[in-house]
Amino acid sequence: MKILKTINELNAFRNALKGTVGFVPTMGALHNGHLSLIQKSLQENDHTIVSIFVNPTQFLEGEDFHQYPKKTDADIKICSLAGVDALFMPQSDVMYAPLEPSILAPASKAYILEGFARPGHFDGVLRVVLKLLHLSKPTHAYFGKKDAQQLYLIQNMVKTLFLEVNIVPCEIVREEDGLALSSRNIYLDTEQRKEALLLSQSLQTATRAIISGQREIDVIKQEMKEVLRPLHVEYVEILNRDFDTMRTIVLSNTVILVCAKVGQTRLIDNLWI
Ligand code: PAF
Repeated sequence: MKILKTINELNAFRNALKGTVGFVPTMGALHNGHLSLIQKSLQENDHTIVSIFVNPTQFLEGEDFHQYPKKTDADIKICSLAGVDALFMPQSDVMYAPLEPSILAPASKAYILEGFARPGHFDGVLRVVLKLLHLSKPTHAYFGKKDAQQLYLIQNMVKTLFLEVNIVPCEIVREEDGLALSSRNIYLDTEQRKEALLLSQSLQTATRAIISGQREIDVIKQEMKEVLRPLHVEYVEILNRDFDTMRTIVLSNTVILVCAKVGQTRLIDNLWI
């Protein structure tokens, strides 16, 4: 596996590739969720490029940018054992220049939910993803459904900027007890780890209600909030897949999103119905 650190190295590597290229952008601290994206890319493409870059522009003042988990040696091993062709690991000054055009995510969809708590976060995500797609020129790029709003905004960017890449949404990977995998789960102590299960349990409650015929969104949200009561809930939302509000569940066009703080750790989870 090649480790690439500069734009010239990535360009030379990419331009020599023949056939399809899968790209998996990450911020490192790789877990089985990332691995499932990498494996899907390996299965579906002739070559796979993974990037590891803790992108400063998507963190707000006071967020965990400087504490964000770093496991470089383990990450390199995981990618190499998985069969990744190249790992792109740039420094910040390779990715960013002092003067750049602004990339702004559409405010009505980027300043709600995650973007309400983290204003500007998605501008930073789109800015780096656009650069990474431009550099790696993939046939397919793989993103987890766990970051549902990010996935929606990236799909929207690809569509509206006419980028020639196929965005592949990948299923959420969960622990056996239902906890969605996240690099931030390592911040949880044993007690908090148990409390964190309430997020996926609230989604199971919603599933049961929908299976039994409930379609009223306010009723389902109320039931979910009951489950989440012990936590500091930031939002419980049920939207269509364009992230617009609706009053009743529309099957195959619904996403249920939840965000709660467990201790100091913000956790998100969601379910696509
Ligand atoms: O989902 C992530 O890990 C990041 O937001 C991404 C897509 C790698 C951009 O920095």
